Amino acid sequence: MAAPVSQSETVETVREEVIGWRRYLHQHPERSFHEERTSQWIADTLAGFSGLEITRPTPTSVLARLKGASPGPVLAIRADIDALPIEERNTHSYISRNPGTMHACGHDGHTAMLLGAVKVLVGRRDSLAGEVRFIFQHAEELHPGGAEELVKAGVMDGVDIVIGAHLWLPLEVGKVGVKAGELMAAPDKICITITGSGGHAALPHQTVDPIAVSAQFITNLQHVVARNVDPLQPSVISITRIAGGTTHNVIPGSVEMEGTVRTFDENLRTEMPRHIERILAGITSAHGASYTFSYERGYRPVVNDERAAALLRRAVVHALGEEALTEAIPCMGGEDFSAYQQRAPGAFFFVGARCEARGIVQPHHHECFDIDERALDYGTRIFVAAALDFLAPSHG
Ligand code: NI
Repeated sequence: MAAPVSQSETVETVREEVIGWRRYLHQHPERSFHEERTSQWIADTLAGFSGLEITRPTPTSVLARLKGASPGPVLAIRADIDALPIEERNTHSYISRNPGTMHACGHDGHTAMLLGAVKVLVGRRDSLAGEVRFIFQHAEELHPGGAEELVKAGVMDGVDIVIGAHLWLPLEVGKVGVKAGELMAAPDKICITITGSGGHAALPHQTVDPIAVSAQFITNLQHVVARNVDPLQPSVISITRIAGGTTHNVIPGSVEMEGTVRTFDENLRTEMPRHIERILAGITSAHGASYTFSYERGYRPVVNDERAAALLRRAVVHALGEEALTEAIPCMGGEDFSAYQQRAPGAFFFVGARCEARGIVQPHHHECFDIDERALDYGTRIFVAAALDFLAPSHG
């Protein structure tokens, strides 16, 4: 491991700047695949640092490459840059100036932390044997996601290890969660239509009521998780949208539903459409209705590599001390970071951003979502420590 004696001082000098960047980004959120101003601002900011090779692999993403003083391996660090279609309800001085759009997941912080790491590492080029590749990725929030596009554009070519972080509200600020193996689930989408035969609400015997059939289906659907899936295998099925009918005295002809299916295990994931359709076919046929069903695969699950996770653990301990490191608790949320892990061993980790005392407790995607900004400095330090460790000249 390199001995970055001056590292903490160096990170110290960018700490306030990182907070400023985060607040600027927070005020100017842009939605997935529309990060035009955000990506231009990132590219302009990077242009202010010396010695980077800056490219735009897609219209709204930015890639910066920092070549060390000597040859060696390539470490990629990814930050996502997009915001969400949410109207912000916070009252701090730097709330969103883009009505209906908000950084409600912390990607503003991810971008700022990574910019901070770039600035520090540019000044430490002499301590780097190899290359650090900084990926500012668009469109994490919207399937098919920006990661897949960037992989296709070649950003992972030659990369030996890839890391990425999420500011994490379930975790207290000052704590950092790292874990090898399964971390985040595959988020798949289902769309269903149940078609019956509409008519007068007072004459149900002359209809096939799709609302009543849908109610049976939704109730029975939970038997897939409760009775068909190994209890030790994580899985979730939720119907999240149901639409049917127009008024109180008409039985409609059909009902539409959408939902999500979350799994880690590939075999289980492959079986899920069959389980769901069996219930759907059985319930509709029992009641004389018909159906349509589609199952759309989302991102792959995030499964962390042992060696990449070990690099992160060392970086956390080096940057913040032993007491900061905790085993990450896996979550059923999805992340397109998994696309990079198809190309190189990688690890994704959680930087605690919750502070009960300051009332910073709202979950991700909440209209009052916020982060404890002390977490930004911690994230920057971990990125810097991981780069100095992985690209330490002795390793080359
Ligand atoms: Ni997010």
